[in-house]
Amino acid sequence: MGDVKMRGLVTLKEILENTRKEGYAVGGFNFNSYEDAQGIINGAAEKNSPVILMASMGACKYIGLHQTVGMIKGMAASVDIPVCLHLDHATDKDFIKEAIKAGFSSVMIDASAQDFETNIRDTKEIVDFAKDYHCSVESELGKVGGKEENIVVSDEKATFTQPADVPRFVEETGIDALAIAFGSVHGFYKSEPKLDFERLEEIAKITDCPLVLHGGTGIPVEDFKKCVKYGISKINVGTELKKTYTDTVRKMCNDLPEKEVDPRKYMGPVKDACAEVVKGKVDVFGSANKG
Ligand code: G3H
Ligand code: ZN
Repeated sequence: MGDVKMRGLVTLKEILENTRKEGYAVGGFNFNSYEDAQGIINGAAEKNSPVILMASMGACKYIGLHQTVGMIKGMAASVDIPVCLHLDHATDKDFIKEAIKAGFSSVMIDASAQDFETNIRDTKEIVDFAKDYHCSVESELGKVGGKEENIVVSDEKATFTQPADVPRFVEETGIDALAIAFGSVHGFYKSEPKLDFERLEEIAKITDCPLVLHGGTGIPVEDFKKCVKYGISKINVGTELKKTYTDTVRKMCNDLPEKEVDPRKYMGPVKDACAEVVKGKVDVFGSANKG
């Protein structure tokens, strides 16, 4: 810790800056508490990789908004890699503004359930607000299927991003990253993921705006590599870490003698388990030594 540079949080724009031209993606990893957050940072630091820590509105409410910022700032200050703190899939504009004021260095406004014009208007409102702060904005165009906390998009309602909509959306909103829908799904896949790489390639040709893949859990390594090759800059992984967390605690609890009551004994191993997941993803996304 002695010679660590004590960096502050970096924005999404800064952390994704070199991704496309250098051919790698930065992982956006969801956390819900101290152990998984510390594990994510530890895994990324071991690989000297930049990292994006993502808290949903639910996670922020559980941990506390200011507590979330304070905790991640403290963790970022103790490692020598770029760390971005991102509010994930937020649908409430007032909450997003509170998060920006509290010190998040990136937010996602998810107005994908709204019509195109409302999505543009709401996204632009957040982009304009964030301008006075050290904060980037991501927004979604099209609808990623599956379940992400309270956001549930059925197979019938999921819609792929239309390439023709992209230029206007990016220009009029002024976003720093664009979440696109091209076949990935939130949560566990019911069958083999079928990603529309042609659509991804087409979108990447149309815009320089960094592109985001949602629903990273369950995507095979070769598909991840293709995503990066065709222009994805940020890859979100949530469910896999949540499962890692609960599986580890469950296993530790079963292994513990009944008289053992120190939570650090069964929560502590979550850090190592989450760090292992992140290290594996960093190798696949190609972000090792980009820190
Ligand atoms: O925004 C979060 C991600 O898209 C996570 O997706 O839970 O399917 O890994 P996942
Ligand atoms: Zn997502």
